[in-house]
Amino acid sequence: ETHNKGGKFRVLVTKNLPGEDWLKVLTSAGAQVDICTAKQTILDNASITKLVGDKCDGVIGQLTEDWSDELFGVLKAAGGKVYSNYAVGFNNIVLEDATKHGIAVGNTPGVLTETTAELAAALTLAASRRLLEAEKFMRGGKYEGFLPNLFVGKLLQGKTVGVVGPGRIGFAYAKMMVEGHKMNILYNSHEPQPEIADYFNKYSDFLESQGGTRVTARQVELEELLQNSDVVSLHCALTPETRHLINKERLGMMKPDAILVNAARGPNVDEKALVAHLQANPGFSAGLDVYEDEPAMAPGLAECSNAVLMPHIASATLWTRSGMAKLAACNVAGVLRGYPALKSAGD
Ligand code: DGY
Repeated sequence: ETHNKGGKFRVLVTKNLPGEDWLKVLTSAGAQVDICTAKQTILDNASITKLVGDKCDGVIGQLTEDWSDELFGVLKAAGGKVYSNYAVGFNNIVLEDATKHGIAVGNTPGVLTETTAELAAALTLAASRRLLEAEKFMRGGKYEGFLPNLFVGKLLQGKTVGVVGPGRIGFAYAKMMVEGHKMNILYNSHEPQPEIADYFNKYSDFLESQGGTRVTARQVELEELLQNSDVVSLHCALTPETRHLINKERLGMMKPDAILVNAARGPNVDEKALVAHLQANPGFSAGLDVYEDEPAMAPGLAECSNAVLMPHIASATLWTRSGMAKLAACNVAGVLRGYPALKSAGD
């Protein structure tokens, strides 16, 4: 699908995007916009190479694409200057390869912070209260009336939530869990983040002034976080250091009835080890939005009734997804007009 045919730049958009503003941003920057309408969800390098063609100034692409030496080389050869990832995460991009080919790279932070945190919170609640199991039961016509032991779950109020890698999204999630459920928080990150403890200290002052009980917030080592948290939520980027951060050994450190939430990146968790852990510990639960080898799931995961499984929808609200589209378009338009990307991946 082509818009503004004959524009002075050519921008390829590998998947159609929500909203309309993004298209206006590109066409008013003088770009012809070619939107790929191919049916297949994931485009391989050969298909993208074909779509880039002989002339392409910029691409808005997806996290399912492998933007490294080969594709950046293809884009460079077509006169490209910018690759804009329709995602905040950029583990599908090798930034050094982009730099080598002189391609600027943008991503979409900010507009998905609250939306993604809300889905992590929803996964936490769904897992703690066994919502999907109970819903399946209901739809299956199995409900025969109130029973004291029917779908008894776990209370969050006053428990401890462990946030691994609290950046923007993790901090927003922590606020939802602490302020909504009066949970105490443990968090773990490479760098000291005194602002988080400070925020919750001030929040505790407020609680106390209202006659409530203080909550605690502490930055701790991962091991301590895993051992002491009732909910562990992952909010770290996928890097070589975080691949399989949650493995068999670390699952074993967690409370047997803990909840593991992952709305970050699948490979942060050794999914096979998680399945074995869910099978061996029926009291343990998981809330997952991402998978190690998307779209596949590890064998046995789909059968684990103690797992809540979502298809990578954490940022899927219209406000956020159209905001991401606009930001991705601004990243391209800025570079085509000779400015840096509005949001540069890695900055
Ligand atoms: C991202 O932005 O990285 C999400 O995974 C999709 O919105």
